[in-house]
Amino acid sequence: MKVNVRLRLYGAEMIKHKEICMKLVKQYFTAVAVLFLFVCAAGFSSAADAAKAMEKKDMKKILVVYYSRTGNTEKVAKDIAKVLNADLEKLIDKKDRSGVTGYLGGGKDAAAGNLAEIEPLKKDPSKYDLVIIGTPIWAWTMSPAVRTYITRNKDNLKQIALFTTAGGTGPDKIIKKMEELAGKKAVTSAGFVEDDLEDESKASYSAKVKTFTDKCN
Ligand SMILES: Cc1cc2nc3c(=O)[nH]c(=O)nc-3n(C[C@H](O)[C@H](O)[C@H](O)COP(=O)(O)O)c2cc1C
Repeated sequence: MKVNVRLRLYGAEMIKHKEICMKLVKQYFTAVAVLFLFVCAAGFSSAADAAKAMEKKDMKKILVVYYSRTGNTEKVAKDIAKVLNADLEKLIDKKDRSGVTGYLGGGKDAAAGNLAEIEPLKKDPSKYDLVIIGTPIWAWTMSPAVRTYITRNKDNLKQIALFTTAGGTGPDKIIKKMEELAGKKAVTSAGFVEDDLEDESKASYSAKVKTFTDKCN
């Protein structure tokens, strides 16, 4: 009788032990599974980070430099910079170019090939893979501020792309002059006229910007 009771107690103890063991095994496997998932997640995110870093490293660093008296060149420069995720440098001519006197003086300075006094630059062009330079056409040539920029920085320009804005004059001759001054060919160029910037030309304007920016990448 005593033996029977002892055996039953022993059996109950064994079952309890088995249950505890099973519980421990279950907890162990759950912990291993969670750890595994953590390691995988960390692996995936660091792989994604590495891919992102590579992509950033491969991205061209682009600067858009422009002079603008009345906003046309500024608009095109900003639209181009937006598409290319580029930095912007606005050239400030210290001479007052406003009004009729400013217009006439500007035309005279441009035609004579005079350099302008410009405010100090904020961006170092040598840090960029590509520098896009935009100028309004003044007296069938580039603006004095842009002439000054190219003259002073030509040795720091790895690659250039060029654009002009004008009332109607085409870009070809002016782009050629800018290339000669920079001592290098532009990877691409474009000429925008005032009609391109009208509201009704939105679609063709965007297409023109796209053609230009596609070649800058
Ligand atoms: C001094 C001066 C000279 C200009 N000469 C020309 C020219 O030779 N041919 C032309 O088509 N437009 C000429 N224009 C018009 C500008 O090129 C045109 O309006 C340009 O888009 C202005 O750019 P902005 O608004 O960025 O200053 C001249 C404008 C100025 C102020």
